[in-house]
Amino acid sequence: MNRLLVTGGAGFIGANFVYYWQKRHPEDFVLVLDALTYAGNLSSLKQAMTSPNFRFVRGDICNRELVEFLLSEYRIDTIVNFAAESHVDRSITGPDEFIRTNIQGTHALLEAARSVWPEPGSGQETGPHRFHHVSTDEVYGSLAPDDPPFSETTPYAPNSPYSASKASSDHLVRAYHHTYGLDVTTSNCSNNYGPFQFPEKLIPLVIINILHGKPLPIYGDGMNIRDWLYVEDHCQGIDLVIKKGKPGEVYNIGGCNEWANIDIVRLVCQHVDEAVASDAGLIQMFPHTPAANGRESERLITYVTDRPGHDRRYAIDPEKSRRELGYSPAVSFEQGIRSTVNWYLKNIGWWQDILDGSYKQWIKTQYGDV
Ligand code: NAD
Ligand code: TYD
Repeated sequence: MNRLLVTGGAGFIGANFVYYWQKRHPEDFVLVLDALTYAGNLSSLKQAMTSPNFRFVRGDICNRELVEFLLSEYRIDTIVNFAAESHVDRSITGPDEFIRTNIQGTHALLEAARSVWPEPGSGQETGPHRFHHVSTDEVYGSLAPDDPPFSETTPYAPNSPYSASKASSDHLVRAYHHTYGLDVTTSNCSNNYGPFQFPEKLIPLVIINILHGKPLPIYGDGMNIRDWLYVEDHCQGIDLVIKKGKPGEVYNIGGCNEWANIDIVRLVCQHVDEAVASDAGLIQMFPHTPAANGRESERLITYVTDRPGHDRRYAIDPEKSRRELGYSPAVSFEQGIRSTVNWYLKNIGWWQDILDGSYKQWIKTQYGDV
């Protein structure tokens, strides 16, 4: 039986991870620590909270004393660090929080783990401990069209304040293993999609804008490529790294599923149109969505000014994870997009609650009147 501290568990991947873990390892104890920033949503954890093996604490990963207290009080043996500022566009308009949470926060967690978990070889070990750090493929920079995908030995070349802050946290995690012998693992994953993703990210933004008949903003020429992975497959990869990964090692997790942004947007348009056309309730609720008026939502596609420093292509080579851990994504893109669209159509209350004043302000800052 394990006792987990999941930081950032009220965010997109963290919440999915909590559900994944409760299903696969129901005997384990899960404690979520989350500051509930604009991206954190307690309602995403509503179901998880019904388990007697679950606790939620609102707090900041930068608060080292709080983390030390939680590690001792709840006898935590595994930390899974999802907590981060995660949106590239926000890191461009305001990088400060990225430096604070992603770098200083990870450092505080590492220090707390080091002070509460006795050092290997000290004779005071209380059992195996694991610090798993969740990172991104964006630390490797941008690929040219014919470059091979990123492997664990690809040199770091982060291009945005977001990816630079994540790269910095990855280096700290590595150093705490090398210097202090802390049992750490890191996973670098490609773009995730699925339920509970905050509507500022491409796929949920497009679904929700289609429903409201609003423009679908495509940065630049729409030909930037990402390697998309269904969030549950990411959770499965993290599980394998925690259980089977070697201390100090890095594992890449990806979908072998490269898509240009414009093609993804077209695919999402088709799925939403199909779902709306056959559902009188949706047509009544969203009268401005093109399918409610016999039109295609692709007409909403609007090319806008490119993101500054926009990375052209990301792709992951997951060979090491496949070979050493038995990792293999289970959900096809067709299947994953269909269930993601369905989830947003069935959970309208979840995202409507988010579309509050502060989120509206972000949309205005980012997209102006588009
Ligand atoms: P998210 O923005 O949806 O969630 C982040 C969560 O962290 C939120 O619940 C937020 O409240 C919490 N948080 C932020 N600052 C905090 C602080 N100082 N203390 C405590 N909690 C804090 O992010 P996500 O998409 O779920 O990403 C989770 C992790 O996975 C991040 O580390 C991200 O870099 C990494 N990652 C994301 C993707 C992706 O496609 N979304 C891909 C690869 C890696
Ligand atoms: P995003 O979901 O922000 O993830 P990331 O930047 O971490 O890859 O964006 C995915 C891709 O979609 C990225 O190339 C930027 C692009 N994009 C748009 O074209 N329009 C948008 O409104 C958004 C949010 C993203």
